[in-house]
Amino acid sequence: MRKVYTGLSEVLTLEVAHKKDGRRLGPEDLSLLSDAAVAFDEEKILWVGKSSALPAEYASARTVDLQGHVLTPELVDSHTHVVFGGDRAQEYAQRLNGVSYEEIARAGGGILKTMTETNLASEETLFSDACERIDRLSSYGIRTIEIKSGYGLNFEKELQISQLIHRLKKEFAPRVQIFNTYLAAHDVPKSFSSSAQYLREVVIPLLHKLAPLKILDAVDIFHEKNYFSREDTELLFAEAEKLGIQRKIHADELNDNGGAALACGHGALSADHLLKVSAAGIKALATSKTVATLLPGTAFFLGKPLAPARALLDGGAKVALGSDYNPGSCHCDNLLLIACVSAAQLKLNQAELWAGVTMNAAHALGLTQQGVILPDFKPRFSLFKTSSISHITYSWGRNFSVPLP
Ligand code: NIG
Ligand code: FE
Repeated sequence: MRKVYTGLSEVLTLEVAHKKDGRRLGPEDLSLLSDAAVAFDEEKILWVGKSSALPAEYASARTVDLQGHVLTPELVDSHTHVVFGGDRAQEYAQRLNGVSYEEIARAGGGILKTMTETNLASEETLFSDACERIDRLSSYGIRTIEIKSGYGLNFEKELQISQLIHRLKKEFAPRVQIFNTYLAAHDVPKSFSSSAQYLREVVIPLLHKLAPLKILDAVDIFHEKNYFSREDTELLFAEAEKLGIQRKIHADELNDNGGAALACGHGALSADHLLKVSAAGIKALATSKTVATLLPGTAFFLGKPLAPARALLDGGAKVALGSDYNPGSCHCDNLLLIACVSAAQLKLNQAELWAGVTMNAAHALGLTQQGVILPDFKPRFSLFKTSSISHITYSWGRNFSVPLP
């Protein structure tokens, strides 16, 4: 059925940003239309332009007057860990009192604490908690959410969580689109003598069990000192490539260990975090399709310096922003809040900010048929009840998102 949104105060089309492949964006590349209309059906956008220029053929379509509203390509959170049991409030208190994330992890806290609590939680509890979290994210206008497994860390629980994410995908479609990422290589349980042993005995065999079920959209790995090595990452990525599954990586977060270049070499969808990315890593990202995903909420929450966003952007990398919503390193689920707060610190212009949470974030999930408001792209939008896009970033933390009529 054809539908028309008309009278919109502003529509963010990102037309120029799209032509520039989301790179080297100037402030004017937002491509904003005022007093605009959009015609679409279930499958695709049919027309976009000034309300006054709406072609007569759409006169009989169901029309909604949206004066006082702003329409954007939908917000995409391309990096979350929504499925977890328990919480780590106590660890945050410890961190405020001077103990580092790494020290807490070495003492058996961190990801392994959440692993224990996740294993104690029933499938139904994990499912209903995740539903509540997804509803909250979607109330901010986030309509595509990547969700990683990675707090089961044994064969049975990781299997359960990957299947649970698939259940969430079916439960929320089409209102919220969910992307299922396999992150069994998130940490190494103490019962294994090495990351290589855990990878060989759990991560790879389970990947082979899950692949034929066709429920995984990507694999991911925490490539980091004291977690997973370059060799582990090479092995996992080689297996994923053989199985036709996309790759993503937690790269150069706490240390620079060449994760960005490794991701580019394997044609990964994205390299995420990048707090410590080297000049060589920046160069690799600038000349590759791999999206550089920044998670500034994590740096804020861990009290660490932010990623070198300007160097990445000026070098020509395609930069996305994600929340990294998880119980440990970033317990904040509001991507737009994180983006607005960090924009001034990362020195992003408005086009870089908005492309970062819409088009480029969609590309970080390989979703190239959305992310702009142009004919033939998917009709996936976020709607905000305010008069201009500038009001959204100006009132950071305030939720202007409203359901799509
Ligand atoms: O993206 N870096 C690895 N994984 C998460 C942290 C998860 C946790 O602390 O529970 C992250 O920051
Ligand atoms: Fe993460």
